[in-house]
Amino acid sequence: MEKSYKQLLENNKNWVAKQLAVDPVYFDKLANSQNPEYLWIGCSDSRVPANQITGTLPGDIFVHRNIANLVVHSDMNMLSVLSYAVEVLKVKHIIVCGHYGCGGVQAAMENKQFGLIDNWLRHIKDVYRYHHKELDAIEDKTQRARRFVEVNVIEQVHDLGKTSIVQNAWKNNQPLHVHGWVYDIHDGIIKDLNVNFTCTKDLHKVYHLD
Ligand code: CO
Repeated sequence: MEKSYKQLLENNKNWVAKQLAVDPVYFDKLANSQNPEYLWIGCSDSRVPANQITGTLPGDIFVHRNIANLVVHSDMNMLSVLSYAVEVLKVKHIIVCGHYGCGGVQAAMENKQFGLIDNWLRHIKDVYRYHHKELDAIEDKTQRARRFVEVNVIEQVHDLGKTSIVQNAWKNNQPLHVHGWVYDIHDGIIKDLNVNFTCTKDLHKVYHLD
């Protein structure tokens, strides 16, 4: 146990040495400022690290992760990240990235108590209810779970568009695209769900905030 966590610090020293060997001013450049073009909203799952799976580097992506990549409009953590990313960093793209085999989504399909997390899973169960006709019609449980992962991402993309933060950016003609992706932990491939949002028009009018 002791040894394994110390290994991380050892790895860090080696990583620093490697970076400096390639570029002696690597950290000086990064320390000055960050200018990421992307905000990533992904799952906390250890198998879905934003930078590695997109071949990006420190400084490229502003990241928010939680269980099942949810955009909950009363979540101060998510709202603060979103506000900073859109209003200060002026990211050009927000990517909601779910993943097949998501434990949070799978748990939300069950009728079991898991403890405190049930309150978080409730948000995902609401997504199931919105899409219950389509999901209930899929007999194979694995296929149903995969589609549930996809519609969950689509709902989170909509939920981003419902925020005043994103709507104000669009109103001010700030270029901002919202995308929905799903990562497949079985082959490493990211699927674009093509639910790109670029303006308020793409939302039901009840959500328009003028
Ligand atoms: Co997950």
